[in-house]
Amino acid sequence: MQGPAIPWRPGRTDRDVSYCTPDGRLPDASKDQNHLRAIFGRMGFNDQEIVALSGAHALGRCHTDRSGFSGPWTFSPTVLTNDYFKLLFNEKWQWKKWNGPKQFEDVSTKTLMMLPTDLAIVKDKSFRATAEKYAKDNDLFFNDFQKVIVKLFELGVPFTTDESARMTFKVYEE
Ligand code: HEM
Repeated sequence: MQGPAIPWRPGRTDRDVSYCTPDGRLPDASKDQNHLRAIFGRMGFNDQEIVALSGAHALGRCHTDRSGFSGPWTFSPTVLTNDYFKLLFNEKWQWKKWNGPKQFEDVSTKTLMMLPTDLAIVKDKSFRATAEKYAKDNDLFFNDFQKVIVKLFELGVPFTTDESARMTFKVYEE
């Protein structure tokens, strides 16, 4: 996807179902910045990290038969770029008039979308400051995204010293 290389190491093991997180812990796209801080803060992510993670919405799209929301965030949903941040600032966003959950559409083409939580990133002063940096600097976004996605992937993984040693070798071998 032309994004930064994401180092990955094995370590998450199968566990009994009783170890699964309870339902209802995913972020709710209809909510605001306080909700984002509550959900991601509980996992140890700060404001800058929440914004960097949200940049993943450069990829993919919403599906009416899954979340109920509809459409892609960017014009190149199979390529990781900082376009999500650029579009947040450079496009005008209006409520989409439709028979579905409340979401935004871009005024110029009406083909792109933003969730209420995406717009919360430009409304909140602290989130906005980071988002502005990412909109101006793709390398900074890639660098921060790489770090934070590894942190997300590895949350709660019971690594052993052996596994991390193996992976360090693999990553720096290239
Ligand atoms: C900030 C809070 C977040 C909210 C409220 C949120 C919400 C959503 C929703 C509603 C969808 C559409 C699902 C569908 O209809 O198929 C979606 C898709 C997606 N999200 Fe998020 N998300 C959040 C954070 C993240 C994070 C942290 C990542 C990864 C780092 C991520 C990556 C993606 C991707 C790649 C898709 C597209 C999936 C596809 O194309 O099928 N999102 N998100």
